[in-house]
Amino acid sequence: MTTNRTFTMIKPDAVKNGHTGAILNDIIHAGFKIVAMKYVQLTEKQAKKFYEVHAERPFYMDLVNFMISGPIVAAVLEKDNAIEDFRKLIGATNPKDAAEGTIRNKYAESIEANAVHGSDSNENAAIESDLHFSMYERF
Ligand code: CMP
Repeated sequence: MTTNRTFTMIKPDAVKNGHTGAILNDIIHAGFKIVAMKYVQLTEKQAKKFYEVHAERPFYMDLVNFMISGPIVAAVLEKDNAIEDFRKLIGATNPKDAAEGTIRNKYAESIEANAVHGSDSNENAAIESDLHFSMYERF
């Protein structure tokens, strides 16, 4: 399994608030190579599938509805130690806890509208990337 790749989405809040360019700039300046990228609006079915590990959580349908509320940018990123380094770059899930200078600290609105998603393991990075990109869309 590839261990130097992670999957990210710039979420509807950050896209709507005009932060897409700044977030991509932060990602590139942190040393990540963009392997695949697309600008899309998820369907309810896609968002439910993506977050199915949270299906039993009370926030699941709110999260799904938020994720389909506007377009997102999905991308596969490559760098040594990609999972851990990307999670450091984006900061804690709740922007209130995100360290100064992290993407969520700078651009997120709330724990739900938290600007970006980052995979939490190599296994999930592969699953999440496969949900969004064919092998012909990764470079
Ligand atoms: P993400 O990294 O995309 O993975 C799961 C998402 O669920 C998370 O970011 C948050 O946006 C959302 N989330 C996690 N915990 C909560 C919560 N307590 N209330 C609302 N949304 C949450």
